[in-house]
Amino acid sequence: MAQTRRQEADGAQTAPQSDRLVIDCYEIADPRAAMVEDVRRGLLARPKTLPAKYLYDEVGSRLFDEICDQPEYYPTRTEEKLLSEIAAGVIEEFGPGQLVELGSGASRKTRILLDALTGTVADASYVPVDVSEEMLRQSATTLAEAYPGLRLHGIVGDYEHHLRDLPASNERMVIFLGSTIGNFTDLEARSFLRSVRGQLSEGDALLIGFDLVKPTDVLNAAYNDAAGVTAEFNRNVLRVLNRELEADFAVDRFEHHAFFNEQESRIEMHLRAATAQQVRVEAAELTIGFEPGESVRTEISRKFTRNDSERTLRAGGFAPHRWYESADGYFALALALAAPVV
Ligand code: SAH
Ligand code: AVI
Repeated sequence: MAQTRRQEADGAQTAPQSDRLVIDCYEIADPRAAMVEDVRRGLLARPKTLPAKYLYDEVGSRLFDEICDQPEYYPTRTEEKLLSEIAAGVIEEFGPGQLVELGSGASRKTRILLDALTGTVADASYVPVDVSEEMLRQSATTLAEAYPGLRLHGIVGDYEHHLRDLPASNERMVIFLGSTIGNFTDLEARSFLRSVRGQLSEGDALLIGFDLVKPTDVLNAAYNDAAGVTAEFNRNVLRVLNRELEADFAVDRFEHHAFFNEQESRIEMHLRAATAQQVRVEAAELTIGFEPGESVRTEISRKFTRNDSERTLRAGGFAPHRWYESADGYFALALALAAPVV
């Protein structure tokens, strides 16, 4: 069983489970107050927005996992194939003692790297980091059974706040898959990468997925799957707000609206009010009006060129080292090295 540490304010608490599986839970000092502040700022902004991390409660995490299996959602299978082509070489070149995964989710694709890692490095450890506690617990427990030689040290926390709480290691490699970097604006991505760089030694590796620019119909289909899973994933954020902040969003009266914004080179995911609505968010002491057709943007998902990706990496303190692109040009994995600090 796993060891759990939980501390309510900026730290971790401990309750032993096993020496091979440890899960630390980090919480910011007052998560509810932070959520109130985020939601207030987003709903008062024009256009209205919500931070994408609130999409990932237990239900949202499962829905995302289901999205990955939808035929229209090419990123997962494309990145998975690329990973299987490069994993052995990457692990052979870097053979890290500690593999840290940011936004690990179900850690499904990670198994490809873990197969190579456990076959190469004795006593390696895997450190998944995710805000979604249930998903992290479940995937870490499953991995502990599947990889008896691997040490697992899960971190439940926000990778924008808790990177400094990674377990110590001087041979660390970070992976950030799925093009989750695309859910940040350019400015946020640069600053996030700088904070990742801050946890690495010069020459340490970062393996990061970038979803590439491609025909608009392929992009739009990927975020509007026929089975409606993405729509459900999107609407779920309103259920999260209803539950956590005593809001009264009429979930069925908001429509999923996702489209490629060519000028910004990003998918925008919105929830659009079908009719005029008044919504009360009790915990924020806020009443918000929606005009018919007005929407709240719940996520951006940027689509990159190789140039954009490498510019972002350099600005974040990394030197691009290798570029692996799928045959159809849909998705790339970049291997970058922590650059000297200037
Ligand atoms: N890496 C997986 C999952 C991507 S989904 C894949 O490639 O398929 C994005 C993941 O990031 C989710 O598991 C979500 O819970 C997590 N996440 C989103 N915002 C986060 C944050 N601020 N801190 C930590 N994890 C976050
Ligand atoms: C996690 N992230 C990279 C996904 C994406 O494609 O931007 C989230 C997602 N949103 C809708 N579908 C998938």
